[in-house]
Amino acid sequence: MLKRTHTCGELTVEAEGCSVILNGWVDTRRDHGGLIFIDLRDRYGITQVVFEPDAGADLMEAARELRAEFVIGVRGTVTRRLPGKENPKLTTGAIEVRATGLEIFNRTPTPPFEVTASAASEPNEELRLQYRYIDLRRPAMQRIMLIRHRMAQLMRNTMSRLGFVEVETPILGRSTPEGARDFLVPSRLHPGHFYALPQSPQLYKQILMVAGYDRYFQIARCFRDEDLRANRQPEFTQLDLEMSFVEFEDVLDTMELLVKEIAREFSGEELKLPLPRLDYHEAMERFGSDRPDLRYGLELKDLASVAAKTDFQVFKSALAAGNRVRGLCAPGAAERYSRKDLDTMTEEIKVFGAKGLVWLKVESEELTGPTAKFFSPELQAELRATLGARPGDLILIVADTHAVTSQSLASLRARLAADLKLFDPKSFHYSWVVRFPLLAWDAEENRWVAEHHPFTMPLPEDLPLLDTDPAKVRAQAYDLVINGEEAAGGTIRVHNPEIQAKIFALLGLSPEQAQEKFGFLLDALRNGAPPHGGIAFGFDRLVMLYAGLDNIRDCIAFPKTAKGTDLMTGAPGTVDARQLRELRIRLNE
Ligand code: AMO
Ligand code: AMP
Repeated sequence: MLKRTHTCGELTVEAEGCSVILNGWVDTRRDHGGLIFIDLRDRYGITQVVFEPDAGADLMEAARELRAEFVIGVRGTVTRRLPGKENPKLTTGAIEVRATGLEIFNRTPTPPFEVTASAASEPNEELRLQYRYIDLRRPAMQRIMLIRHRMAQLMRNTMSRLGFVEVETPILGRSTPEGARDFLVPSRLHPGHFYALPQSPQLYKQILMVAGYDRYFQIARCFRDEDLRANRQPEFTQLDLEMSFVEFEDVLDTMELLVKEIAREFSGEELKLPLPRLDYHEAMERFGSDRPDLRYGLELKDLASVAAKTDFQVFKSALAAGNRVRGLCAPGAAERYSRKDLDTMTEEIKVFGAKGLVWLKVESEELTGPTAKFFSPELQAELRATLGARPGDLILIVADTHAVTSQSLASLRARLAADLKLFDPKSFHYSWVVRFPLLAWDAEENRWVAEHHPFTMPLPEDLPLLDTDPAKVRAQAYDLVINGEEAAGGTIRVHNPEIQAKIFALLGLSPEQAQEKFGFLLDALRNGAPPHGGIAFGFDRLVMLYAGLDNIRDCIAFPKTAKGTDLMTGAPGTVDARQLRELRIRLNE
């Protein structure tokens, strides 16, 4: 076997005259009269190989057979390229290897798409997922997989250095009511009983705190049977961790040390600590989102006071119903958007329940737009002052509930910022959003549900509100937001049985039901639980951010489609009748 002496990414003029062997895949092939040029590729780079008639007819014959993606070994002599033929973009661009021997390890059919980095277009995603082994061979994908590898190594090293101990927790667990739907695994030994795949190691890591492992971490696989989006997979990875004898600030401070390392390594930035902290309510008020992209301003403003003075029925009835009138002002955007664009924006926010969109263009003297007539000159001046609007700006206003105005304006804000190029897409902004509400009212089920999970500790000063006004109770919860993505989320946990009982009662769980659902955790917590709290980072999302991807599938070696299928293996698939019989499962056709 022609076994490699070097990779395809390392030979330079220093090796001139050396005899070497390279292994790899044929990236491209060019026939130039009597000469055959091959770009040979492995994951380290590309080296140009030349076959010349001088090397003998047999070798030329063999070289003529080569096609893209053949796997070969080549022996040859490192030679300086002719002047003017160097390729400064390649490490190996000053040399070529003049072939003296060739071994074809494998011939391949014409690949379903081009692998070479110089391919004219990005291949179709279905084909990429079906032929993932070829897709992952593409240099763009190899770059991402290496970022992923470096991220995992950096996390392991940093966590270890910070005194965290890596502990693995089970994949086959027990179904517990958390946020999403569980994936279930039937038990053969216990017919009618099921394991559940963990949505996160949450309960185990709290139990590890009871067991005295006061700083735990794990790069953990999580499984959630939920509807998929561009930033969600049914099977994803977290950097999961938990700490004992800590308060809110301690977790944030410790995590910032990790975030600083990540930023240094992946964006070359020296972060100034502490990172900014934004109150949940303030984030919702100023940006309409609990994960605002703070690379740009474009803040939302409350316009109730101006709106109340207009004769516009939409505003009047919104305010009468206790709803809100909010808006934002996009600098210099008046010219950018036509009436048709604004109609499209109006349609787009209907998915959030918005009933319409007021738009006003700021001219030098006055506001124009279909609803401008409702604003007297004085009100126009007041509106402009409230929003800081200047000639050439575009004002957008939505009247509706707090939630609908928030979602609609947050989505418009993101769209406008991208259209108007209000930020550098290569920059990163880090902030914590803290003190989320503990509970949310579930109108369908007519009960309170936990915003994060039922073991989240309220802020001490809000504890009395558990009895009087649960909606107002704020949690000791924190999310790390990077560029508008929720990169991590966690909480300080309840370690006090009385507070826990009160929260279960609000969630509509009797002590018996709570015991039935989470008995093992509650038992553990009664057996020496230290004060504790933790957080989990979305590992895939971090890789997405630093690799500059807009789709989570691109940073996972073998991802699922939006429909939850694996196009390469065909999972999920059917199984033998015998397997079902063993599990005592009968399909209900
Ligand atoms: P949470 O559910 O907020 O918290 O998850 C933590 C982080 O994991 C990422 N994430 C996802 N990434 C890809 N696909 C998904 N389907 C997906 N769901 C979540 C997000 C998120 O911020 N046990 C708690 C953590 C704790 O309290 O310590 C938990 O799992 O980036
Ligand atoms: P209408 O009176 O329903 O024809 O609406 C007049 C204008 O007000 C249209 O441009 C609508 O898009 C806008 N509009 C209607 N309802 C709302 C609302 N709740 N918030 C903001 N604008 C609205």
